[in-house]
Amino acid sequence: MSKALDGVKILDFTHVQSGPTCTQLLAWLGADVIKVERPGGGDITRGQLRDIPDVDSLYFTMLNHNKRSITIDARNPQGKAVIEALMKTCDVMVENFAPGALDRMGFTWERIQQINPRIILASVKGFGPGPYEDCKVYENVAQCAGGSASTTGFDDGPPLVTGAQIGDSGTGLHLALGIVSALFQRVTTGRGQKVLCAMQDGVLNLCRVKLRDQQRLAHGPLTEFPQYPGGEFGEAVPRAGNASGGGQPGWILKCKGWETDPNAYIYFIAQAPVWEAICDVIGKPEWKTDPDYAKPPARLPRLKAIFDTIEQWTMTKTKFEAMDILNKYDIPCGPILSMKEIAEEQSLRATGTVVEVDHPTRGKYLTVGNPIKMSDSASDVRRSPLLGEHTDEVLRDVLRFDEKRIAAIKASGALGGPMRAAAE
Ligand code: COA
Repeated sequence: MSKALDGVKILDFTHVQSGPTCTQLLAWLGADVIKVERPGGGDITRGQLRDIPDVDSLYFTMLNHNKRSITIDARNPQGKAVIEALMKTCDVMVENFAPGALDRMGFTWERIQQINPRIILASVKGFGPGPYEDCKVYENVAQCAGGSASTTGFDDGPPLVTGAQIGDSGTGLHLALGIVSALFQRVTTGRGQKVLCAMQDGVLNLCRVKLRDQQRLAHGPLTEFPQYPGGEFGEAVPRAGNASGGGQPGWILKCKGWETDPNAYIYFIAQAPVWEAICDVIGKPEWKTDPDYAKPPARLPRLKAIFDTIEQWTMTKTKFEAMDILNKYDIPCGPILSMKEIAEEQSLRATGTVVEVDHPTRGKYLTVGNPIKMSDSASDVRRSPLLGEHTDEVLRDVLRFDEKRIAAIKASGALGGPMRAAAE
């Protein structure tokens, strides 16, 4: 089966998480992604959070599937020439260096356009133009600056960051969409363009419901928040704990075993259309006609007491038993799944969402496969490359350099020291 992005060549100058997320997605969709790494250590994540000595970390392997790796010293004149040759043949160049780093390498947008006017230059930066545009940014900085941290957590606690990597992986996702759109536009214009995704913007886009709430606040308290009706609402959207954020009230409730299992909980949504079923399931049929409970507006000031009562019922069931019962009545709910449970979930293995991959130095490990399923574009997950594993292959097969030229480039030191070979 062919793949959606067959024939698209990506010059991947990305590192850490945001950029690699983007290029991994494009690789899964069929693009030929050639990752340029600095000779010596390569992408810094190869050595970060290592669980096995001298083996590429899971941090690296899980973000760089289906790519080829070439080592090039971008400061060496011969190395620069190789990068320029790659720019000529590639459709897209993706980078997430600190602001100004690409210019300092000599690759300004003007220069890149001279080399290849059809190329798309896609960048992740921490901030867009403005007071912080020169700042280096990591995940949690973006979560804080994009409005996520101030709106996450409980009202009586400090701001919280979330485990979902909305700054890095979220921005990588946005960038991938920008790249595919630019490729589509190039079909008619014939020109490349710059695509920029700032992490602050990406996080804010994912927090748009909180900017919605900021404006609602001007017209009165946020009635679905746990602070309502007794608590204080200040000038800015407060932290909403586990409230749903949508039009249907929700909360996380304890289930059987919660005393010893930190994940014995269920997310319960008291959706209006199934309110009567909820009343029957939890043994409160009188609430169906009680004017204090029968209609959604009457329930809003009583949400805490309502969820406390529902919890008395959920605590008598495991989260999976509760799911089975609630699903029969179409009551929206979800178990709090641990990473262990997700890793062991066979249905996720069956769909390729969780995949086991074999790696020549690490052995077998689990990764998250392509979450985008397409009926006419197969998505296989191939292991991440070893550092510089494809240097010779790319020079020979992509750039069509002859052996003499490759030898001269190597002799110049542009590709670094001896390459590690795959032990496959
Ligand atoms: N050959 C030679 N030099 C290379 C090279 C290569 N193949 N690849 C990278 N370098 C150089 C760069 O040119 C840069 O040099 P300079 O600053 O002296 O000009 C240097 O390596 C380091 O790049 P930098 O991006 O500054 O790395 P860092 O580790 O200091 O910062 C980040 C990391 C993530 C904070 C920073 O890259 C950043 O803010 N990126 C944008 C936002 C982002 O994506 N953040 C999320 C990351 S998950």
